[in-house]
Amino acid sequence: MYKALSLEGKVAIVTGGAGGIGQATVDLMIGRGARVAVADIALDRAQAVATKYGDAAIAVGMDLSHEASIKAMVARAVDHFGRLDILHNNATAVGQQLVDADNGIGEMATETWDTFFTTNCRGTMIVTREALPHLVRSGDGAIVNTVSGMALQGNIRFHAYSATKAAMMQMTRAVATAYGRKGVRCNAVAPGLVLTETVAKDFPSAMLKLVLDETPRDRVGAPEDIAEAVAFLASDAARNITGQTLVADGGVSIHIPGFSAYREFFGD
Ligand SMILES: NC(=O)c1ccc[n+]([C@@H]2O[C@H](COP(=O)([O-])OP(=O)(O)OC[C@H]3O[C@@H](n4cnc5c(N)ncnc54)[C@H](O)[C@@H]3O)[C@@H](O)[C@H]2O)c1
Repeated sequence: MYKALSLEGKVAIVTGGAGGIGQATVDLMIGRGARVAVADIALDRAQAVATKYGDAAIAVGMDLSHEASIKAMVARAVDHFGRLDILHNNATAVGQQLVDADNGIGEMATETWDTFFTTNCRGTMIVTREALPHLVRSGDGAIVNTVSGMALQGNIRFHAYSATKAAMMQMTRAVATAYGRKGVRCNAVAPGLVLTETVAKDFPSAMLKLVLDETPRDRVGAPEDIAEAVAFLASDAARNITGQTLVADGGVSIHIPGFSAYREFFGD
């Protein structure tokens, strides 16, 4: 492996590490030499991930919407491993009910908006605040926030979720600006559609076709694609990259409007 990509000797926290993109990131980071605290609301699944790796991983329960549990999670991870070099802010408010309730602003229930902002923005702020002193002490700290392609363009629905992810992109720039001279980089990865187990379960096939038709690459994302981007940004290979959002969406967000119609017109 290219040496700068190595995470040998580093300690990471991955929130939402018990499933999907977070789990793939845990697997990859450990494969590159890191030790990882798998932080998740589903402690049983976090334990199932961590036990695969013996001393290289621990599972820590945490609810992103509860401040005390976040503080306890960071303290436990640092206490256990003795340091912290990487924070992957990846957990998000989840659940089909919440997705269904995430309408356009004209129909938005205040509680839905509050749930997304409490979990994604307030929660991520608290994890970051609690981790920062340890990342500064590391001398070579890196934060990677999982945001979303939905933060880059308007849509008919998902106004609360997408607004939290746009706010997290700004948090990324703010932290990068304030902590660069203190030895901490902060970047984000914006996935497009990623067929995790949760997403794949109920994803409407008509919507999948719609996304694929608008994607320059001929596939949608896999959790491992996003893990690669996260592990790169967390590594020394990205030492001069900070405050950026790396879009990993197969190109769905970069083309002219009517891309699928143009493909038809030009005969693809
Ligand atoms: N899958 C996609 O298509 C996609 C696209 C763009 C962005 N993302 C982002 O990627 C990140 C990971 O999503 P995923 O698709 O892998 O999700 P996932 O549902 O597969 O995994 C999310 C993990 O977070 C945990 N979690 C849920 N609520 C939590 C809470 N309150 N506190 C702590 N942990 C909690 C879950 O138990 C689960 O293990 C999220 O930030 C999501 O917004 C996903």
